[in-house]
Amino acid sequence: MEIAVVQSDVVDTEADVLVVNLFEGVTSPGGATGAVDSAIGGLISELISDGEISGRASELTLIHTPNSAYPAFKPSRVLVAGLGKDDSINLDGIRRVSASVIRKLRSLGAKQAAMVVHGAGIGGIEPSAATQSLVEGALLGAYRFLKYRTTDKERKSDVEKIIIVESDPSKIDAINTGITNGTAYSQAEILARDLVNEPANKLSPADLASVAEQVAKDNGLTCTVLEEADVTKLGMGAYVGVSQGGSRPLKFIHMTYEGDVGNSENNLWLIGKGITFDSGGISLKPGAGMGKMKGDMGGGASVIAAIRAISQLKPKINVHAVCAATDNMPGGSAQRPGDVVTAMNGMTIEIDNTDAEGRLTLADAIGYALSKDAVRLVDVATLTGAARIALGDGVSPVFGNDDDLVNAVLEASEGVGESMWRLPLDSVTKRQNSSKIADLKNTGGRGGGSTTAAHFISDFAGDTPWVHIDVAATSMLDSTRGWMPAGATGVPTRSLIELAMRMGG
Ligand code: BES
Ligand code: MN
Ligand code: ZN
Repeated sequence: MEIAVVQSDVVDTEADVLVVNLFEGVTSPGGATGAVDSAIGGLISELISDGEISGRASELTLIHTPNSAYPAFKPSRVLVAGLGKDDSINLDGIRRVSASVIRKLRSLGAKQAAMVVHGAGIGGIEPSAATQSLVEGALLGAYRFLKYRTTDKERKSDVEKIIIVESDPSKIDAINTGITNGTAYSQAEILARDLVNEPANKLSPADLASVAEQVAKDNGLTCTVLEEADVTKLGMGAYVGVSQGGSRPLKFIHMTYEGDVGNSENNLWLIGKGITFDSGGISLKPGAGMGKMKGDMGGGASVIAAIRAISQLKPKINVHAVCAATDNMPGGSAQRPGDVVTAMNGMTIEIDNTDAEGRLTLADAIGYALSKDAVRLVDVATLTGAARIALGDGVSPVFGNDDDLVNAVLEASEGVGESMWRLPLDSVTKRQNSSKIADLKNTGGRGGGSTTAAHFISDFAGDTPWVHIDVAATSMLDSTRGWMPAGATGVPTRSLIELAMRMGG
């Protein structure tokens, strides 16, 4: 989808469909909608007074404006999108409206559409931010994963071109900035979605490493991939233990973006869980729904995708993306419940349940980051089913040992509409990880499953500022919600990009 801005009056725009908007309760529209209304003889005001259009959020009304009837008006159709009450419009609302508009345009078979930036007029939202949300809504809302659907040739194809129409020349630069940012943020989130949706037989640790290498090559990043022998030598016994049951070799991925050369202190390490398939291992998962565990590398996908956008937008900070990729499989050489492994930092771990594998791989990924003088750590992981029990699938639980870094993550996520909420690392749940025979065990019993997992990771982060985002429930959805389709959401890719942009801004 190509997106461009044109400085012009809406009524002069050539497009298959012209998209304008309406706030709830407005009876005689102003701005662009008012201009269209006048050009088509007050038809929009009439539909409002007839009760046909209310301006409610998510309302979409298609009006046919054939040239024979309206010779002074170029577009042959107008789509009026409801924005809800004018005092409640925000960036999330714009993203949501834009997503439903783009899907409506596709169902209409429109190839090319013109639209105004919702919310940037009387909504009073800063035009670059409003445009970024519009672009994100369109690109993310149109997303489908169709590469393995070879027979349904009848499906409607995507809108090819969007023209953003703005009459005020002073807003054009800001709108262009919004298009650039929105495109980079969305394309990254789409990369993460594609990787999560990819079946496990098509995406091995080696395949994920190839993607990282390609991203690095295309964007001037460095990428190092360590093999089993390398990580064994580094002492990553927790990570190697997880990979032991599988036959596809592990790949430890480390990508680097240098936005503040020579200032090695100014760094941010993004660490993503990279289980390319989580069967549970010897502690085998039940069959129902196990296929979803192809997405257990969602954290890794999001850090690889985020560093791509970061390298394009160039904040002044050094960013590292790390993903300890491996399958978690049962087999004759798989690790067993009861085994004890030693992590890179020397700590010993009793394997109570081989299905609590994510924290084991993260322990060594963090050990690696600290050995390279990481100053700030943010890990992202599809870590616990308990995350869904705690907060549902609309909010990701966040834990951390540093208020400033936690707040920076929460603020970034709020800014891009990827909800997160901090949960406490209390001393009672911490004790649940104690083992009789090792320093720690990899499960913490029934209560506070997301918290005990976070405690486990925190023991490896030590005193270094660290935040953990559990995306087990938010990384994949069962049904479409706003700009997030059923299947992979790409969450929290845009939050990570935003975090780096704010830190290096
Ligand atoms: N990858 C899973 C967590 C998960 C569950 C992600 C559902 C997405 C959807 C993780 O490795 C896991 O199996 N966690 C266990 C931990 C338990 C054994 C302590 C869980 O949550 O049940
Ligand atoms: Mn597991
Ligand atoms: Zn897992």
